[in-house]
Amino acid sequence: MKLIYQGKTKDVYQLEDGNYLLKFKDDMTGENGVFDPGANTVGLTVEGAGKAGLKLTKMFFEKLRDEGIPTHYIDCNIEEATMKVKPATLFGNGLEVICRFRAVGSFIRRYGMYAKEGQPLDSFVEVTLKDDARQDPPISEDALHMLGILTREEYKILKDLTIKISNIIKDELAKKGIELYDIKLEFGRIGEDKHIALIDEISGGNMRAYKDGKYIEPLELEKLLVN
Ligand SMILES: Nc1ncnc2c1ncn2[C@@H]1O[C@H](COP(=O)(O)OP(=O)(O)OP(=O)(O)O)[C@@H](O)[C@H]1O
Ligand SMILES: [Mg+2]
Repeated sequence: MKLIYQGKTKDVYQLEDGNYLLKFKDDMTGENGVFDPGANTVGLTVEGAGKAGLKLTKMFFEKLRDEGIPTHYIDCNIEEATMKVKPATLFGNGLEVICRFRAVGSFIRRYGMYAKEGQPLDSFVEVTLKDDARQDPPISEDALHMLGILTREEYKILKDLTIKISNIIKDELAKKGIELYDIKLEFGRIGEDKHIALIDEISGGNMRAYKDGKYIEPLELEKLLVN
């Protein structure tokens, strides 16, 4: 097993069979001890955060598998906080795709002149570049195409998959009386046919969820959704 990447919240290993192993750490993104799913720095470390993130990821990826959505998921080991996945190649150096159901976070920071905090949005999709040094800038379909990061067809697949997946997650949360405000997904190309599939994780760390108008922290979300 070879360590190939050390991320903020996960380490990535290459297994002998060619698959990857994601090790979920207890580090969370944020600043000065305050969690923020949109942050590009590790802001705090909470015991059990890695396992909680993996439990939610397992639940959601198994749900998506049942729904016939292509993902990198193979299986996982909760005790060891590891998930076995198929290796993916990224688009450029990696993209994040955000789906918004209510206006919060960076949407309000950017469009606050026109949008009200918390106003409903209809599965609004935004793509950002994974570029920590430039604070993950948003990028348009035209720019993605012009810069050779995505073809027009790939953009459409990515957008359609994002809307489909995000609504499946939204519906799962709604069953427990929880409302999904926004979610951040990652995609890559997998297998010999290079099909587009969901990669990375789906946990409290990459979404904003609210119950009775109150924000739910990632560990609390895991308690409400798992078991
Ligand atoms: N199936 C996969 N194949 C290849 N890379 C993957 C796969 N799933 C996830 N990754 C990548 O593994 C890394 C996981 O680590 P982590 O989430 O901690 O990264 P990060 O600190 O968020 O860094 P980054 O800024 O690159 O996301 C991410 O870079 C993610 O894009
Ligand atoms: Mg990440």
